[in-house]
Amino acid sequence: MARHENIVVLTGAGISAESGVATFRDAGGVWAQYDYREVATPEGFAANPALVHAFYNARRRGLGAVQPNAAHRALAALERGLGEKGGRLTLITQNVDDLHERAGSKNILHMHGELSKAECAHCGDIGAARGDLSVETACNACGRAGGMRPHVVWFGEIPRFMDEAMDAIMTADLFVSVGTSGSVYPAAGFVGEARALGVPATELNLEPSENAYLFTDSRYGPATQVVASWVREMLA
Ligand code: OAD
Repeated sequence: MARHENIVVLTGAGISAESGVATFRDAGGVWAQYDYREVATPEGFAANPALVHAFYNARRRGLGAVQPNAAHRALAALERGLGEKGGRLTLITQNVDDLHERAGSKNILHMHGELSKAECAHCGDIGAARGDLSVETACNACGRAGGMRPHVVWFGEIPRFMDEAMDAIMTADLFVSVGTSGSVYPAAGFVGEARALGVPATELNLEPSENAYLFTDSRYGPATQVVASWVREMLA
């Protein structure tokens, strides 16, 4: 029986790094190559939609070339293992890739949206984005063109599923953060919320994050190693 039965795991770009998906703030990361104001804000999209579509189209195409790694698979196994014992794992991810789904996780809150979906500004429909998006792409629901955008949350926008995320944290008996620098709010604030409620918190990351001092336990190393060994302990 796992000691903890109701676990919330927050993941960030670091969990997908060993799959070959670039992180944002490490050396050579996405924000060293692109100006986030141009490609990840509503203002950037209004100014140059073609540039923003090209940025996300390239990232969406890149998903076809990467696979989930041992850390994604371990979290999926933990969700199944806790479920079999009447427990629960809620996975809150800041990642817009689909590697958690492909590893078998089910209970996922994509707080920053998903690359594999598109959103129509005209009718609000959110549907699958199978190929590239452009200003000419027509909405599958309303048929109008010109309003399609990647279903990703940009700087200045409100992340998704915040009520569900807070509900999960408030009822958790352990909060775990994996592969995130702890520099983007509100996700970076989750550990503080958990600790204020008396919930213990574990950090699994390559190196101490900006919030490292808030955690009650920490393991540092590549996610494929530290997440896999931590999950083995949880399921032992
Ligand atoms: P960051 O790039 O800010 O941080 C990645 C973290 O992963 C760092 O703390 C690294 O040390 C760690 N890391 C790198 N390789 C690792 C590995 N192999 N195993 C374990 N950890 C590793 O990415 P996020 O914290 O996810 O938002 O960034 C948060 C948000 O900022 C993103 O969702 C994105 C970005 O701007 C939007 O675009 C809205």
